[in-house]
Amino acid sequence: MKHFLSVVALSATPFAAVAQTDGTFTLTDLPYATDALAPVILQETMELHHGKHHQSYVDNLNAAITAGDAPADLTLQELVAAAGTYPDAVRNNAGGHWNHDFFWNTMAPADATGEMSDALSEAITGVFGSQEEFETAFQEAGAARFGSGWVWLIVDDQDQLQITTTPNQDNPLMDVADVQGTPLLGNDVWEHAYYLSYNNRRADYLGEWWGVVDWPEVSDRYDAALAD
Ligand SMILES: [Fe+2]
Repeated sequence: MKHFLSVVALSATPFAAVAQTDGTFTLTDLPYATDALAPVILQETMELHHGKHHQSYVDNLNAAITAGDAPADLTLQELVAAAGTYPDAVRNNAGGHWNHDFFWNTMAPADATGEMSDALSEAITGVFGSQEEFETAFQEAGAARFGSGWVWLIVDDQDQLQITTTPNQDNPLMDVADVQGTPLLGNDVWEHAYYLSYNNRRADYLGEWWGVVDWPEVSDRYDAALAD
């Protein structure tokens, strides 16, 4: 029941509107059990990634705000959008918090991933040639991201789909991003996301990850991005 309630809460609240009270952020429950994405993502990886790594971004962001590095009355979205105006502790940890909330809500158990909408399917085919060619391009971009970072599918300011990558915990919503846009899909290519099961084989992780992508959620994001 706990997980069912979490799903309802997350569905009713956009991921970007993460709860904030008194200038502090909190770690949101996962929308599924920690073993729900196995074997694509191991339970131990989920426990460490969500419970330790994501928690650290939340804790460090709260510490930075307490230290006066950023105003205490801003939403996470506002902090991310203006990341370049704050010290790195805010940029890195606000990004880390936003990116991981987005990431958890991009995935679903393999038997509940659903289908993408016709609109998104047609857009992907129009830009990349086919779903397969899109996935190959996304995987290649993620594999080529040097060091730690993220690979994204975004809608740019011309309402066009693009694949882009960001270093560290940056994302395409940030004022400092080389390519800006609205993320539809993002995969974490930090080693902490895959090392326990894939070791150094990032490309294998990127290939297996499609098995847990929540396509209806990604499709809803596409509709919302075009409506903005
Ligand atoms: Fe991560």
